[in-house]
Amino acid sequence: DSAPVLTIDGPGGAGKGTISRLVAARLGWHLLDSGALYRLTALAAVKYEVPRDDEPALARVAATLDVVFVAENDAATVLLEGRDATTAIRTEQVGDAASRVAALPAVREALLQRQRDFRQAPGLVADGRDMGTVVFTDAPLKIFLTASAEERARRRHLQLREAGVDASLSSLLKEIQARDARDMQRSVAPLKPAIDAITLDTTRLTIPEVVDRLTELLTERG
Ligand code: C5P
Repeated sequence: DSAPVLTIDGPGGAGKGTISRLVAARLGWHLLDSGALYRLTALAAVKYEVPRDDEPALARVAATLDVVFVAENDAATVLLEGRDATTAIRTEQVGDAASRVAALPAVREALLQRQRDFRQAPGLVADGRDMGTVVFTDAPLKIFLTASAEERARRRHLQLREAGVDASLSSLLKEIQARDARDMQRSVAPLKPAIDAITLDTTRLTIPEVVDRLTELLTERG
């Protein structure tokens, strides 16, 4: 398909999810939360008691995932086998399990076409780690969104506090650093900017500033 794609890759906690949702809503484009697919694969694997080193079985789980994304304005609901899994996939534990299954080539391969199917008119905002480097290599605009690990830990801490969860800042920082290392060092589709990506460091930017900047860049490229 030749619908335009804006890819937004970067480490966890850089604000990709929020930014992608807001940009997609502003443009009236579709949204792909590719991390949710890895998180759902990890969740389904636990449900079906698939050992975490059984790559072929995990790839089958990924290939046969029964998932529906329901978008309402700027909120998104995820259904796994018809059940609401929106909050269940957001825990640190599932995030950690997701980054382990995501390191398996057969799992990534199994999710490839499913991700490409999201590319539909009028356009797609694709949020992930390898949107610009692997899944949508011909995207007209590729963004690599970063922020310092300390800032990302601080944001996560705030987010958790608002949700009534009390986590220590230092343990969050450690988890973020461990996840970064695993995502950047894996041999298949490691996290890195595409050669033609524009890197945007959001450490000192507000969410509306980032959304405006991305919309500007799209207009310049459009
Ligand atoms: O972005 P999110 O935190 O939901 O992603 C969870 C995990 O899924 C990441 O840590 C990463 O290992 C994996 N992932 C990936 N490729 C993507 C999106 C997510 O490997 N395109």
